[in-house]
Amino acid sequence: MTVQQSKIDNPQSPICRVGIIGAGTMGSGIAQVASTAGCTVKLFDLNQAALDKAKASLEKIMSRLVEKGRIDAEEKNRIQDNITYVNSLKELSDSDMTIEAIVENLDIKKKVFQELEGYVSEECIIASNTSSLSIASIASSLEKPERCVGIHFFNPAPLMKLVEVIPAIQTSEETLKISEETIGNWGKVVAIAKDTPGFIVNRVARPFYGEALRIYEEGIASFFEIDHAMKSVGGFRMGPFELMDFIGNDVNYIVTETVFKAFYYDPRYKPAFTQKRFAEAGYLGRKSGRGYYNYEDGKMQQRQ
Ligand code: NAI
Repeated sequence: MTVQQSKIDNPQSPICRVGIIGAGTMGSGIAQVASTAGCTVKLFDLNQAALDKAKASLEKIMSRLVEKGRIDAEEKNRIQDNITYVNSLKELSDSDMTIEAIVENLDIKKKVFQELEGYVSEECIIASNTSSLSIASIASSLEKPERCVGIHFFNPAPLMKLVEVIPAIQTSEETLKISEETIGNWGKVVAIAKDTPGFIVNRVARPFYGEALRIYEEGIASFFEIDHAMKSVGGFRMGPFELMDFIGNDVNYIVTETVFKAFYYDPRYKPAFTQKRFAEAGYLGRKSGRGYYNYEDGKMQQRQ
């Protein structure tokens, strides 16, 4: 694991207190990144079980890093103690920056942003980790839309170097500059992307998933065979089905649907029924223990 560059190296940074909204796959990872970099973090979720899971998962990750000698016990305690788990949005009122990572639904995100703006200071940057929604549209829910920006981490956030920073047309130069600097201070590589559906990476990735699903639906090959081909010959670290299971079929499906609609129903991005049914059935992938593969005891196994 790449140990994040400490924010202590950059005492000028105006971002010390970070509020994260949503303690799922992404929110918990982003909280780890910000805390490792020296920020004080408040991690908010409506669901107490999600907060408990995030806390337990961080303990496991940190213990593993200590075992491997990547960090010492003192650093482990510092990173864990820097994160407070809260179940009220109001608790984020003292944040310098908030990053939202809740369900990929525009109306719900807008509602949360509106409520949040009532609690935080005028200077607080309000960012979204959305994979595919319009930042301009999310920003429009705010009285000060110039403080809104897209900050898009990849999964798993502590390991993936790249972060897309997406200014909306309303985003101020200052918001963009501070966001870019902050993410750089957190040890990440920033790519500035235009506010278009799927930004850069998620747009390029759509055909990877979509074509694999079509190959499966046409009966040409199984999930496993497609993944095997892409890994052993294609050189990918994960095949498309393994990756969709890793991301979460619910999240991945919604992103495809959003990109498809946002590009005026361009057939290049058409979602697949197979994935829709998997998401509807709750076969979400790793996080639900079952997806295109089974994950009993956390190990990936081919389904019978
Ligand atoms: P997730 O389903 O793992 O977690 C979402 C969390 O948000 C859940 O704990 C849920 O309880 C909470 N939540 C939902 N509504 C809420 C509300 N109104 N207030 C507070 N908490 C609420 O989702 P995941 O995968 O972490 O995705 C979150 C966001 O990040 C989405 O916008 C997604 O598109 C984006 N994203 C996801 C990636 C992935 O690989 N899963 C990668 C990059 C971005």
